[in-house]
Amino acid sequence: MSDDQYREMMWQSLQEFSDLAVRKEEWSHFAKALHYVRVDLTATEDYDRLRSQLERFDEGGQSSNCLFYLSIAPQLFDSAVRGLADSGLAAEEDSWRRVVIEKPFGRNLETSLELNRQVSDVFSEDRVYRIDHYLGKETVQNLLVFRFANAIFESLWSRDHIDNIQITVAESVSVADRAGYYDQSGVIRDMVQNHLLQLMALVAMDPPAALDAESLRNKKIEVLKAVRRWTSEDIGRSAVLGQYQGYLAEDGVSPGSVTPTYAALRMYVDNWRWQGVPFYLHTGKAMADKLTEIVVQFRSPPHMLFSEDQGGTLNPNVLSLCLQPDEGMHLRFEVKEPDQGLQLRSNDMAFHYGSGFSEQAIPEAYERLLQDALDGDASLFIRADHIEEAWRIVDPLIERAEMSGTGALHLYNPGTWGPAEADALLTQDGYGWQSLCATHGDANG
Ligand code: BG6
Repeated sequence: MSDDQYREMMWQSLQEFSDLAVRKEEWSHFAKALHYVRVDLTATEDYDRLRSQLERFDEGGQSSNCLFYLSIAPQLFDSAVRGLADSGLAAEEDSWRRVVIEKPFGRNLETSLELNRQVSDVFSEDRVYRIDHYLGKETVQNLLVFRFANAIFESLWSRDHIDNIQITVAESVSVADRAGYYDQSGVIRDMVQNHLLQLMALVAMDPPAALDAESLRNKKIEVLKAVRRWTSEDIGRSAVLGQYQGYLAEDGVSPGSVTPTYAALRMYVDNWRWQGVPFYLHTGKAMADKLTEIVVQFRSPPHMLFSEDQGGTLNPNVLSLCLQPDEGMHLRFEVKEPDQGLQLRSNDMAFHYGSGFSEQAIPEAYERLLQDALDGDASLFIRADHIEEAWRIVDPLIERAEMSGTGALHLYNPGTWGPAEADALLTQDGYGWQSLCATHGDANG
């Protein structure tokens, strides 16, 4: 592409995807700063060409700051960082040079260690920004505010008061146009290793001493380190893997593929705060709706004064954090039904971003993350040791999925909430999947 073709493509994309009204004259001014350079990531001389292009922007003998954003196939990382190093593009003299890395961060612990080594040969850890876009979501950042800016919940936030925690990341989309990538990856690499474990870490972490990148990330990693490892005996009882009917017919899926598109997991965090509290995680493609929700179920009252006839079943309090699409939260508690003797009923206290901040749009996760990377704030990015710890957790699951083939795979119909076996994972513990959030099909909650 020429610069002009590239600018036109960006302009068209803005029209299609941006929520902001962009005026043509503002755009024309901004677009002059966009340039297109075609680089073969494996060709050394191309990096020299890139470097000369970039040098044209240097002003007054001062070189420009550069954020290299690598959204590339993992097998190209090594060539890319090496190319940047050999051409001098990675060197910081009078300007900063950082690298943003998009997942996948390897395929397992071994490959991620290798990838981190390749990157760290060139960029020190404080210059590496590994993206998990879930961390850029407003509602995910709100988890920290909710927990650590409100004293009332944090004092209940442990095994003493919490019975179990459920994390749902359901997607209604199938793998459709991404089957080629997805079939090589599967739900554990695509969603569990990163997004779900991030959410779990944010829910379970201890309060950091400060909000700087290192304090925050240290506390999250402590959670991952405390996650109980599955043994070959219990993994089959704690994990349900599924594949939606029709997956094998998707364009790009290999015949007889045993790639899971759904996972439900029972996990434990073996520390003082969470000992014995099950964390149930589930996520999948082609499910009934798009919904990301964290449900915290508190313990039931120790003694029920009200009889079952009065609705006095031991209904526990439930806190639901709706991360998307209906961003907000619900707190469920029991109330007395008016004029009905002593009948009880569950009711929700709710907050919704849509009505609470009606004048402010929720920004896209990437807006925040790109800005943070430019500002040098790594708090919402993933450190190398976090990636490695996350692989240590999921590797046994991936091995099981790959070794047991169809034996470990439960089929489910598209448009449902996953295989029946995933419900059994909870019912055998006396629970059921819960949701208090509105979904697309249930806009009023
Ligand atoms: C990506 C996965 O990281 O997250 C996709 O690769 C998934 O498969 C997507 O669809 C979900 O993101 P969001 O923001 O729509 O929940």
